[in-house]
Amino acid sequence: MCRQELVSMIPVKLLDAQSHHLVLDSCASPGSKTSQILEVMLDKHASGAVVANDASLQRANLLTHRCYRLEAAAKNLLVINHDAQTLPLELENTFDRILCDVPCSGDGTLRKSTDLWKKWSNSSGVELHSIQVNVVTRALRLLKHDGGGRLVYSTCSLNPLENEAVVVELLKRSQGAIRLVDCSKMLPGLKRLPGLTEWSVQDLKTGKWYDTYDSYAKDNQTRSTKIKKSMFASKTTIHAHNLERCFRIHPDLNDTGGFFVAVFEKVKPLPMEMIALDAKEEQKLSRTTNANTKKWTKAKIAPVFSVGTDKEFKAVIKRIKTKYGFDVRKKEENGGMEMITRNNTDSVPKRIYCLSKGAKSILDKCNRNNQEQKLRILACGLCAFERQPVHKGILKSQSDDSNCEFRFTQKGCELFQDCISKQVVRVSPKELENMLARQQKKQSITSKPNAPLCIDAKTKKKVLNECERGCVILAIRGKSSGSGNKRKLEEEEIAAISPVTIACWFPPSKKKRSDGKSNDDDDDDDDVTLTLMCSKSEGEVRLERLREHLKLKLVN
Ligand SMILES: C[S@@+](CC[C@H](N)C(=O)[O-])C[C@H]1O[C@@H](n2cnc3c(N)ncnc32)[C@H](O)[C@@H]1O
Repeated sequence: MCRQELVSMIPVKLLDAQSHHLVLDSCASPGSKTSQILEVMLDKHASGAVVANDASLQRANLLTHRCYRLEAAAKNLLVINHDAQTLPLELENTFDRILCDVPCSGDGTLRKSTDLWKKWSNSSGVELHSIQVNVVTRALRLLKHDGGGRLVYSTCSLNPLENEAVVVELLKRSQGAIRLVDCSKMLPGLKRLPGLTEWSVQDLKTGKWYDTYDSYAKDNQTRSTKIKKSMFASKTTIHAHNLERCFRIHPDLNDTGGFFVAVFEKVKPLPMEMIALDAKEEQKLSRTTNANTKKWTKAKIAPVFSVGTDKEFKAVIKRIKTKYGFDVRKKEENGGMEMITRNNTDSVPKRIYCLSKGAKSILDKCNRNNQEQKLRILACGLCAFERQPVHKGILKSQSDDSNCEFRFTQKGCELFQDCISKQVVRVSPKELENMLARQQKKQSITSKPNAPLCIDAKTKKKVLNECERGCVILAIRGKSSGSGNKRKLEEEEIAAISPVTIACWFPPSKKKRSDGKSNDDDDDDDDVTLTLMCSKSEGEVRLERLREHLKLKLVN
């Protein structure tokens, strides 16, 4: 769960993102709003994508950490590290929704951020105005114009230079390609003020206030300053822009922080003049872009590769299928998921990640033929499989297809729980609760994070009869067992009731033969333990979910 102030939730509410949408959060760290957007992607079948960007690599790392808490939406997530003013144009006309929660002076947060009282200066708004215009201009290029593309602009500032002046400049530049959406009927009960139509701009050097750019220019003919024409409200045109459609939330209205929001829709492609201005700004920024590229290269973050059709990958997929009974690349079996890896140095990947169709389509646009990678991807997708270091007693001969070196991650087995048909042991909800509780206890008293657990006799038998050593999935069983239609019913019931599936490790037999090799062919149930592979926090969440479910079952 992610907490943020109530007003901070308004931009995402107005974004109205759907589970099939491609969404860009252009200035996303620390990720409160990205997490809010990701909530629509929690559904297993959500095919959309959320691309969360931040210009600072350090802050993008923080963003990754925060967003990955929403595990079930990880399949839809890409975290990238670009200056939002120069995001790759390969993504032009791509996104259904874009949030530009831009860097701002933050004066709307003065009630809670007491440190800002010392830091704030009148120059912040002036310095940020152009960046804010540039960030949204680039975002508008990436927004779809042929299917109701919507962009939400927000700041936690009340300074008109960072708000209405930015909005008016964008509307002017776009020559009708974008318009402000009337949100007056949305969020009833929220007290708000319309956007300002008049304001003054202060010359930072002289302290003098001006209402028009002409009067300012008259006094400043020779001096070059940061004051731009776009910062002024032009009395002749301002009323044509429907600024009453912007939201101004002043702290006293709802007893919150101050906030500004404007919602745009793009109705046609941007005019050439606006695109030319964007290109000019990109040129100006090339020096900082190069510095960021250097930082990125130094961080040595592994590139992303599609799981290809080459022989080695095909063999991996076949081994996964033989071991777990489902084909991860068959869309009808895997819920439309795409597979990627982040490693091209080994012939066999270390990890296999799942991505939604939408997230993969974004990668493909920027990453043609696994060649030049235009997106600086920090994190992407849900890690479903990990290559297990070779274990004696598990791997058979190298050529054996049942010799699968990949194990499910905890998140992977949950994503694919409906498809896995081998290596699954069904236990009662009570037994699973008991195992999770014992693991929690063990984890708090031993330094070994994942110690093996002894299991009850019935489960032992099942593990021995139904599974090979290696990765085993523990799932909840339905009430009755049977065959034919009855069995089908049971499976449907399981799918409906099963709130928890746990990836476990069934270690190789400890019993040695006289030649010193492990005694795999002669298993006996004294030698059966399972290690739950979920971390302490993962286990804690699942235990809570299971107990909640059991409580509900008792009540019903
Ligand atoms: C207002 S904060 C975003 C807060 C975030 N939306 C949330 O709700 O958690 C602005 C973010 O923009 C980032 N930023 C600043 N300049 C940027 C730029 N040119 N491009 C992309 N991100 C930028 C900052 O690092 C900061 O994390």
